[in-house]
Amino acid sequence: MSINDKIEAVREKFMTALESFPSDPIAIEKIRVKFLGRKGLVARLFAEMGSLLSSERPRVGKILNDVKRDLTAQFEKKVAAVKSLDKNRNDSHKNVDYTLPGYKIKTGSIHPIEQVTKELIDIFKSLGFSVAYGPEIDDDYHNFSALNFPKHHPARDMQDTFFIDPEIVLRTHTSNVQIHLMETVDPPLRYIVPGRVYRNEAISFKSFCLFHQIEGLYVDKNVTFVEMKSILEYFLRRIIGKNVNIRFRPSYFPFTEPSAEVDIWNSERGQWMEILGCGMVHPKVFGNVGYDPEIWKGYAFGLGVERIAMLKYDIKDIRMLYRNDIRFLEQF
Ligand code: DAH
Repeated sequence: MSINDKIEAVREKFMTALESFPSDPIAIEKIRVKFLGRKGLVARLFAEMGSLLSSERPRVGKILNDVKRDLTAQFEKKVAAVKSLDKNRNDSHKNVDYTLPGYKIKTGSIHPIEQVTKELIDIFKSLGFSVAYGPEIDDDYHNFSALNFPKHHPARDMQDTFFIDPEIVLRTHTSNVQIHLMETVDPPLRYIVPGRVYRNEAISFKSFCLFHQIEGLYVDKNVTFVEMKSILEYFLRRIIGKNVNIRFRPSYFPFTEPSAEVDIWNSERGQWMEILGCGMVHPKVFGNVGYDPEIWKGYAFGLGVERIAMLKYDIKDIRMLYRNDIRFLEQF
């Protein structure tokens, strides 16, 4: 191998070593010793000068000096680059102020509607009710006709209905599940039914196009209005507070007879707030599901979850419950 080839071979090895240049000082020093040390590869090339013709020596000597200078310069450049990286790292550590508060990780919370629903379910479960669910898209029969709303009866106007087609509706109340339940379960039965309902109403601080109800249905042989009244009073005191002011007032629903509505005094607003409708299951409804009204009696009720949440948490606008504003939600 000629001296020129040997020089090129050393240079190539050196370039390869630079490609994966280490940051560890000991490994860096090893590279320096291997190539540029007193007994390194470059030094060995100089040692070979002795075996050259004297006429060759000046030329090769010049080449070797250039190579040594070049490799040394390249090596030092790499070392400088590694050092400045290290320095930056250290400096960024120095800039951390450990006394600053940390970043707060935001956690989700349970929506107030969901919280109140769960509380209501727990209360009714403790009273012996089971939980059932039913369809939000239903036919006219289950939402209206079977509940003793005759076609074209003005009582249907009480509930502004979203129609999918003339026979299919978004349920306007959870009462549709009364029918589904009684169609599939033999009496006696005692259920509550939480769920969403939909109404095509003007949206305002007190009404929204969708909201939540909890339906209750109890059917047995000796069910009385007084029993219903005491159960409803009991649960209202548990969910809202012992001293809550409750008013039962006669009302009308096609599927109950007699019917009543229950109001709660809202001291904040200085007015009664309607919370639920209730009554004794109408004999015609029993007839529609094949229960013998001579044998079975029942009471039913339907309460508005939003109304209770608003009273409980002093929420003044129902729309807050549907905006998903984190500033509002994180309070719960
Ligand atoms: N479904 C009625 C409504 O949405 C509320 C209601 C009243 C439900 C009387 C009942 C009941 O179960 O017995 O306005």
